[in-house]
Amino acid sequence: MNVLVIGAGGREHALAWKIKQSPNCNELFIAPGNAGTATVGANLNIGVNDFEELGQQVLDKKIDLVIVGPEEPLVKGIRNYFASKEELKNILMVGPDEVGAQLEGSKDFSKAFMVRNNIPTAGSLTVTADSLAEGIKFLSKVKAPYVLKADGLAAGKGVIITEDIKEAEHALKEMLAGQFGAASSKVLIEEYLHGIELSVFVLTDGKSYMTLPEAKDYKRIGEGDTGPNTGGMGAVSPVSFADENFMKKVDDKVIKPTVNGLQADGIDFIGFLFIGLMNVNGEPFVIEYNVRMGDPETEVVMPRIKSDMLSHLAAAAKRELAQETLEIKPETATTVVAVAEGYPGSYEKGRKMIGLNNAFKGIVFHAGTAHQGDQIVTNGGRVIASTGLGTDIQSALDQSYENLQSIQWDGMNYRKDIGQDLLSL
Ligand code: AMP
Ligand code: GLY
Repeated sequence: MNVLVIGAGGREHALAWKIKQSPNCNELFIAPGNAGTATVGANLNIGVNDFEELGQQVLDKKIDLVIVGPEEPLVKGIRNYFASKEELKNILMVGPDEVGAQLEGSKDFSKAFMVRNNIPTAGSLTVTADSLAEGIKFLSKVKAPYVLKADGLAAGKGVIITEDIKEAEHALKEMLAGQFGAASSKVLIEEYLHGIELSVFVLTDGKSYMTLPEAKDYKRIGEGDTGPNTGGMGAVSPVSFADENFMKKVDDKVIKPTVNGLQADGIDFIGFLFIGLMNVNGEPFVIEYNVRMGDPETEVVMPRIKSDMLSHLAAAAKRELAQETLEIKPETATTVVAVAEGYPGSYEKGRKMIGLNNAFKGIVFHAGTAHQGDQIVTNGGRVIASTGLGTDIQSALDQSYENLQSIQWDGMNYRKDIGQDLLSL
């Protein structure tokens, strides 16, 4: 089978790395990819939203299966584009259509979906400029901290949490006045959930589903979960508190009602569901849905899958997932993301990297790297994700950190405390 993975991050390197191990993988392409994906397949220099060129290359390269990594092309309707073209409509694709992608693309849509399907989630009110007064009233009724969410995609920046009601009112007005453009023309005010977060990943063909290993993500730039939010600074899988009892609740109260709800709504969903959950005193509550894998969670999830991921992906795309059996390795995986100086604020690209050709234990996934002549240089905020594997968190972390010690570039920065909170649970 010839496969195309769309995207350029650590997630796509990890997906491509795993897919390449399948005996059924013939040619593997990544668009646009990075210097790491070039070691497992061939990069195609095409943007993730250039549907026309992606479609053309799918035909030219005789690609059988397309895996869409990031959310943007999904929300923009890449599946609908392929379905609308006679010559592309039978190409297998993992990734939902425009309507399914609204589970991530619109927090108002996904909240209404959860409420309609009795899926546990924080109580909320959606506000527009016309209903600002109701929003202010709702804020006065809920307890601090106050959670405000822009309805649409805002590059991970659309959530504001504050203890101060005046600040919350001000932020609500700013958002509705266009702080995040059209993405915040609607704002959700949500009750705050107290607990520990984790991410659950499901691959579904719309009828059947398989639950992949869960993971915990470390979102803040600073140690001890301080400072601004990032795309994710590290991840661990498995998550100790996600025991059998908790995961059964997740299955019964969240995953099954979600897949059933999609069917009931006539949403033909082939793809990943990434469910952000809060464990509130042993009960799962949905914080958000994403319609793709997480990054850096994929860098710990893929290395823990023993069975043939390409077989699972192709089966999902053909609506034959019920025939597949997922096998998971017992090892613990950790990943530590090393970022550019200044990230998540502004940062420079093009810094020369050394040490990437060393022999590593575990896997060093590339997130934001590129070739410049025969040099590898930084090409993003999150630059690499060093994944370690071990019998427990500590031994996996030892590998992750050991690898990072032999890699260098000017301004390299990473958190030293990934997984520490789980060690003390
Ligand atoms: P989101 O973009 O919806 O994932 O929100 C970003 C982060 O804000 C989440 O990962 C949580 O840490 C936090 N968050 C979002 N909603 C809530 C909530 N209702 N209660 C507590 N924390 C939340
Ligand atoms: N690591 C969180 C995300 O991929 O959205």
